[in-house]
Amino acid sequence: MAGRTVGILTGGGDCPGLNAAIRAVTKSAILDHGWEVRGILDGYHGLITGRSRQLSYADVSNILPLGGTILGTSNKASPFAFSENGKEPSDVSDRAVENLKRWNIDALFCIGGDGTLSIARKMLSKFDRIIGIPKTIDNDLKCTEQTFGFDTACNFVTQSIDRIHFTAQSHHRVMVIEVMGRYAGWIALEGGLAGGGDIILIPEIPFSYDRIVDAVKERSKKGKRFSIIVVAEGAKPAGEDYAVKKIVKDSPDPIRLGGVGERVADHIEETTGHESRATILGHLQRGGSPSFFDRILATGYGIAAVSFAAKNMFGKMAALRNGDVVPVDLEEATSGLKLVTEDHKLVKAALSLGTSFGV
Ligand code: F6P
Repeated sequence: MAGRTVGILTGGGDCPGLNAAIRAVTKSAILDHGWEVRGILDGYHGLITGRSRQLSYADVSNILPLGGTILGTSNKASPFAFSENGKEPSDVSDRAVENLKRWNIDALFCIGGDGTLSIARKMLSKFDRIIGIPKTIDNDLKCTEQTFGFDTACNFVTQSIDRIHFTAQSHHRVMVIEVMGRYAGWIALEGGLAGGGDIILIPEIPFSYDRIVDAVKERSKKGKRFSIIVVAEGAKPAGEDYAVKKIVKDSPDPIRLGGVGERVADHIEETTGHESRATILGHLQRGGSPSFFDRILATGYGIAAVSFAAKNMFGKMAALRNGDVVPVDLEEATSGLKLVTEDHKLVKAALSLGTSFGV
């Protein structure tokens, strides 16, 4: 199948490992198959507005350790609801498909999370030669055991908790660390467990302020004069709404969560008099060089995705299952979010260690 041109784009929030995946797709396409590779700039924005560039072997050399994406990304541009010059959003998906034709692209690799891959799934009705590659620090994509970006983010969260421990211990404070993850608690659960958080609050287990206070007091009674609370940005008290930080109007997923950490810290200080501070780790979790695990995962995904294209297996997403990268239906992978369940083995592990979930 020499003579083929494949396209690649990165959409949604950046995360460590995107460049490793771009490199793997490009090198495998060139070396294994002799294909040409076109990088589409700024995700679907470049696809809609016709911006792309050819990617050579040299273009993807030395990018493996880099964070971010050399192609740029956008989490605002959906071909099905695109705002131009301040006008109401409209469906410009035909224009996106025209650009693919103009560039002679006969297979498109979309690297993204739930938002980007849901758009890719929708695009299949107009251009059926798409393959998804799953990335997101949130690890909330269905059908795959892990997305790349998650491991690096959790390493950062763990190291941050380690650092905050010193201040918590020295000042006898309650230190609250707010982490990302949108509506999924994976980063808080896994980062919190690895960092030894005393209380972990996740969206899937709505919390009670009273139970958090109880847990802090319980620790005090045992002589522990400090507590570390790891709270997911999507955690919320039972019966209440998410803490919303910002609405990004022209984004397909406009809600940006944030602020629950401050609320928890303020509540504890007000009700117990125990000095409390909140730290929001924010976008630091998405930065930096990918971890060993994320490099291997992103590379494996990229190479597998190219092999699916070579076998004309489209409408698929590369997924991690028991250590292997396998094709799964894009349709199923984007049919909802992968969330933490109350009986998940890591929830049970945390409970066995005396960690409170604020319930
Ligand atoms: O999906 C990745 C993520 O970092 C979420 O964890 C977070 O809620 C969101 O993106 C932040 O988006 P933005 O970069 O638009 O503020």
